Amino acid sequence: MNPIRPLTIGSFTAANNLLLAPMAGITDSPFRVLCLKGGAGIVCAEMVSAHALHYGNEKSGRMLQVNPKEHPVSMQIFGSDEATIAEAARNAEAQGADIVDLNAGCPVKKINKAGAGCVLMKDEAKLGRLVEAAVKSVKIPVTLKTRVALTHKELLGARLAKLAENAGASAVVLHARAAVDVHSGPPNIPALAEACAAVKIPVIGNGGVMDAALAEKFFEAGCAGVMIGRGAVGNPFIFQDIIDAFAGKTPSTHSPAFRLGIYLDLIRENVAYYGERIGVNRSRKTAGYWIKDFPNAADVRGTFVRLDALADIESLFAQTLARLQ
Ligand SMILES: Cc1cc2nc3c(=O)[nH]c(=O)nc-3n(C[C@H](O)[C@H](O)[C@H](O)COP(=O)(O)O)c2cc1C
Repeated sequence: MNPIRPLTIGSFTAANNLLLAPMAGITDSPFRVLCLKGGAGIVCAEMVSAHALHYGNEKSGRMLQVNPKEHPVSMQIFGSDEATIAEAARNAEAQGADIVDLNAGCPVKKINKAGAGCVLMKDEAKLGRLVEAAVKSVKIPVTLKTRVALTHKELLGARLAKLAENAGASAVVLHARAAVDVHSGPPNIPALAEACAAVKIPVIGNGGVMDAALAEKFFEAGCAGVMIGRGAVGNPFIFQDIIDAFAGKTPSTHSPAFRLGIYLDLIRENVAYYGERIGVNRSRKTAGYWIKDFPNAADVRGTFVRLDALADIESLFAQTLARLQ
């Protein structure tokens, strides 16, 4: 049976159950709009510090802004204090977010030192209070994004899913890797199945999905939705590709030329959104995902990352596309 169907998270229903994962430095507004065009049912924003929002940090405030073209969107916040989490959740709701997500899975040291991210997996009482604080402060659904384990010694996914459910969360996103593995290694599908069996709220599985074959395993494990991160970078149409594959259609093959065209659109959107300097700079960070799989791709990438002006980038891409077509 085709597992692609609408996904209900609390009071909100998305057209399908494939979600774009939050990725700091990548899933900003221009990229989210692109992924919605590429078939994503819900797009998630990069994490924003509740603490920084509380102190009026301009950059963090901007990260919370919702473009009218990017619904449905989930805004992710991180922090370790109930009052600032509640305030950040209210802020996200006021900006027009459809869902607010709390991060309890990030293994980055700087975040963990501040008591946020995956260290919250060790302090279940505190994590429960943070989820509850967010839930009580907004009308939109609140979700928790965490992991199936901290280390390989103990699975925590089912317990944390239950904790989220008891604290009033409308869904839980489980990255099916231990925090010690950061983003590498195969997903632990039995751990997802255990968590799915433990709760009534939707469990959204995440980790390593690049095609319909692995997405199918997540659905078979009981996941209500599948969240895709790096598979969407360089291929924001992965969502539609997976939808097509489940519908029995031949999935599209994306030629290097097609990918370059999409990348150029994204660079232009980034420049329009951030201005030329920051827009080009941000675009460079993911060049390896887009400029690949053709002769001399490494040279083109090398030239591209040294260009500062959009006009020069456009001319490099025009020359490269002319060679490829
Ligand atoms: C560059 C990068 C930035 C990330 N930033 C976040 C983040 O801000 N919040 C979060 O919950 N997870 C973050 N993640 C984790 C992803 O959401 C996702 O859980 C992880 O990449 C596994 O999914 P994938 O294998 O489909 O990429 C990040 C991952 C990457 C690669």
